[in-house]
Amino acid sequence: MDFLVIGGTGLVGSNVVTATTDEHTVQWTSRNSKSEGHELDKTERDRTTELISKLNPDVVVDTAAFHAVDDCEHSRAKAYDVNGTGTRNVAIAADDVDAHLIYFSTDYVFAGLPEETPYKESDYVAPINYYAETKYVGEQAAKIAAKHTILRPSVIYGLSSDNFVTWALGELDAGNEITIVNDQISAPTYAPDLAQACLDIAEQEITGLYHATGPESCSRYEFTVRLAEVYDYDTDLVKPITTEEFGQEAPRPSDSTLDSTALYEQLTEEFTPPKQAFSEMAPQISSD
Ligand SMILES: NC(=O)c1ccc[n+]([C@@H]2O[C@H](COP(=O)([O-])OP(=O)(O)OC[C@H]3O[C@@H](n4cnc5c(N)ncnc54)[C@H](OP(=O)(O)O)[C@@H]3O)[C@@H](O)[C@H]2O)c1
Repeated sequence: MDFLVIGGTGLVGSNVVTATTDEHTVQWTSRNSKSEGHELDKTERDRTTELISKLNPDVVVDTAAFHAVDDCEHSRAKAYDVNGTGTRNVAIAADDVDAHLIYFSTDYVFAGLPEETPYKESDYVAPINYYAETKYVGEQAAKIAAKHTILRPSVIYGLSSDNFVTWALGELDAGNEITIVNDQISAPTYAPDLAQACLDIAEQEITGLYHATGPESCSRYEFTVRLAEVYDYDTDLVKPITTEEFGQEAPRPSDSTLDSTALYEQLTEEFTPPKQAFSEMAPQISSD
């Protein structure tokens, strides 16, 4: 099975590339012409069509997004261009070669009201910020591909790329205090689990919309304290703060916990709880 990963240098994308085995071929893209991947900006329609047509993959995993959530509020044209139009370009090109498109959306498509959680795939969306609006536009665009799977993960973490966990570990290692919101709850998602899920989805030809989050729901603050515990850092360095005090530009959900059982039931492996994932990551971090 031939995979093409759009955004192969990113957190999910690099994990998908690593997860592929001898049974697969994998190619990937980057906007950086100096990288080893195929150069691609998915907002360029002709180039997207040309590349996907030339590579003719069985599966296109589109991880590429503009997901700086606060920046999306004031860079709206760019957010729409990448997350909406760019996804549409990929979906059209994937459909042209009859490829299976796997697209990543977000838990932020929901309002995030605690009384509504855990959200199921059948629940109404109400995108909480502009980033989420454009990711929802991307969901609609992904459906252009006859064979498509839309995944909604939350707070993705792992190694291989900058993300919340690698940032927090860097700060804790330097002995710096970090202030983390204690009233934003979700189910963080370990990137290698998403990568393995992509392989299962492709091999079993699983299509449709699936929530794809980790098995445990917690606040960002609780998540970070667990991280500090596993790595033996002083948990007092992690300071709680409310969302209101923190003052992020884009609104965030109070609780965007998703029910991912529909996906779990079809996968070969369960998703990993944070403490176990942190322990799995430790040997790789210490060998860096
Ligand atoms: N990270 C999270 O916590 C989170 C949570 C929920 C949902 N998601 C969604 O999950 C997906 C994967 O997230 P991630 O954390 O792996 O993202 P990421 O680390 O930022 O990786 C995405 C990669 O896409 C590439 N890219 C960006 N704009 C592009 C464009 N216009 N054309 C082509 N490539 C482009 C970038 O690589 P180059 O610079 O090399 O081109 C980037 O490294 C995204 O769709 C995101 O919206 C993420």
